[in-house]
Amino acid sequence: MASYKMLPLLAASTVLAVNYPTIPSDRTTPVQQRLAINAPNAMSIGWNTYEKLNGSYCVQYGTSSTSLTSQACSDSSTTYATSRTYGNEVTMTGLQPATTYYYKIPSTNSSVEHFLSPRTAGDKTAFNMDVVIDLGIYGADGYTTTKRDTIPQIQPELNHTTIGALARTVDDYEFVIHPGDFAYADDWYEKPHNLLDGKDAYQAILEGFYDQLAPIAARKGYMASPGNHEADCQEIPYTSGLCPEGQKNFTDFMMRFGRTMPTAFASSSSNTTAQSSATKAQQLALPPFWYSFEYGQAHIVMFDTETDFPDAPDGPGGSAHLNGGPFGKPNQQIDFLNADLASVDRSVTPWLIGAGHRPWYSTGGGGCDPCQTAFESIFYKYGVDLAIFGHVHNSQRFLPIYNGTADPAGMQDPKAPMYIVAGGTGNIEGLSAVGDNATANAFAYADDFSYATVKFIDANHLGVDFMQSSTGNVLDSSVLFKSHNTSFVVQTS
Ligand SMILES: *[C@@H]1O[C@H](CO)[C@@H](O)[C@H](O)[C@H]1NC(C)=O
Ligand SMILES: *[C@@H]1O[C@H](CO)[C@@H](O)[C@H](O)[C@H]1NC(C)=O
Ligand SMILES: *[C@@H]1O[C@H](CO)[C@@H](O)[C@H](O)[C@H]1NC(C)=O
Ligand SMILES: *[C@@H]1O[C@H](CO)[C@@H](O)[C@H](O)[C@H]1NC(C)=O
Ligand SMILES: *[C@@H]1O[C@H](CO)[C@@H](O)[C@H](O)[C@H]1NC(C)=O
Ligand SMILES: *[C@@H]1O[C@H](CO)[C@@H](O)[C@H](O)[C@H]1NC(C)=O
Ligand SMILES: *[C@@H]1O[C@H](CO)[C@@H](O)[C@H](O)[C@H]1NC(C)=O
Ligand SMILES: *[C@@H]1O[C@H](CO)[C@@H](O)[C@H](O)[C@H]1NC(C)=O
Repeated sequence: MASYKMLPLLAASTVLAVNYPTIPSDRTTPVQQRLAINAPNAMSIGWNTYEKLNGSYCVQYGTSSTSLTSQACSDSSTTYATSRTYGNEVTMTGLQPATTYYYKIPSTNSSVEHFLSPRTAGDKTAFNMDVVIDLGIYGADGYTTTKRDTIPQIQPELNHTTIGALARTVDDYEFVIHPGDFAYADDWYEKPHNLLDGKDAYQAILEGFYDQLAPIAARKGYMASPGNHEADCQEIPYTSGLCPEGQKNFTDFMMRFGRTMPTAFASSSSNTTAQSSATKAQQLALPPFWYSFEYGQAHIVMFDTETDFPDAPDGPGGSAHLNGGPFGKPNQQIDFLNADLASVDRSVTPWLIGAGHRPWYSTGGGGCDPCQTAFESIFYKYGVDLAIFGHVHNSQRFLPIYNGTADPAGMQDPKAPMYIVAGGTGNIEGLSAVGDNATANAFAYADDFSYATVKFIDANHLGVDFMQSSTGNVLDSSVLFKSHNTSFVVQTS
């Protein structure tokens, strides 16, 4: 969420120095690893190094940790003004589905890691997907150490946090989606020790956060899309013109995720109209801003609530004054969504999930009206089952609802999407109070950090659980029933 705060006063005793991580003496040491589901039989891995990887470099991989018989290579090692690191990426192709693969990033200082390859679209095996939004760095530049006195120490266990919960439960979910607001680097000014060096403070928070996330994202597909905190060097709108080159216009976000996220998958349907619609969606996709992928029973579309639609809040002249984008051609994102959603064959992937950053249903405000205007009717038309958001720093669940009116069917085969907000995972801005009850709101929680698990049970049952991060206690549990007996859903009213 936006916060328009005064700069904290400098305390006389404050040590003024940003918290850059230590640079490893072997500068090819991989840091900030991040996997992504890239295609039906492909996973991408991105990582950063403290020196440019010259020429070609190859990640080795295979189904045995002692026999990495395949390799994926790249010769691109890129950086941007103000970054201390270089971003490197390869895509590991030709994977057998739902199989454990081992991989080794090239370095004299890297180890063999592993991941589960993507499930084929149409595989009806039950699986879980975790949802984490508005996460933020932990430690001296984050929320927990100074604002929550119950936490004596964060590193290395990270066990009062959502990252700790993801680590503890690593066998319980197959991948993570994170629609926006990652490190909160643009909140650097909230800590006095950063005030003399905002440019480096911003980079230090990015480095620290993605180091903290790496144990998870080096093991699980970690699917990213943008939030307002990726836009710019500072969330103070009227100073955004002062941002240094390299810290404007979603630069780090694009460098980090732009070449690892997918476009859209080739159609998994035998229907030729759906096939050409999926091809069109592939051409209109613009990762990491908007894209889709399929995984077992699910077709998941990640979309951009920040730029690239009418009155987009972070766009030029937008209400957030963050002056980002546009990244696509006029109407490209909307055209993408129409093509992508129309291509989904529910007899193959029964569950259609949409995920973005800013919600339009929320208790206590924080709703994005231009987002609702741009996207809600498209989601309804193509029968999106569940829409997932963050931005508001708490957990919320709404019964199926369209245009402000609860679907009379409730959770029993509604036409309207069900909505959740999973923005209470923990960041420097703290939790947002639960507001007044709103139409169709069934659950709201802001007492502690929490996150969500979406359970793809079978073609007709989808579970959503909210967990308290520190304890793993289930705070709320619901199951949506959908008959899914129409292959191509088109609803006009
Ligand atoms: C090797 O990598 C580890 C982290 O994975 C790091 O702590 C260590 O400093 C690195 N060693 C060298 C020689 O760079
Ligand atoms: C890349 O080339 C530069 C300049 O020649 C050199 O300093 C650096 O060590 C090289 N890096 C690697 C990983 O080989
Ligand atoms: C935090 O994790 C450590 C080990 O990882 C464990 O010993 C400790 O009990 C945990 N603390 C809490 C409060 O869960
Ligand atoms: C093929 O898909 C289109 C939507 O892409 C749908 O309108 C049409 O009914 C489908 N045809 C069959 C035979 O299912
Ligand atoms: C942001 O980057 C995009 C893509 O490079 C560009 O089209 C757009 O004009 C930039 N926006 C601003 C405000 O600089
Ligand atoms: C949504 O509801 C309003 C009244 O609250 C109505 O004027 C409008 O036409 C409705 N829009 C759609 C797309 O149904
Ligand atoms: C909002 O009100 C409804 C209907 O009274 C109730 O079922 C629901 O639990 C309430 N939501 C919250 C978060 O208290
Ligand atoms: C689809 O399922 C719903 C609810 O189970 C049922 O009312 C409807 O008749 C079914 N339609 C078809 C075409 O089978």
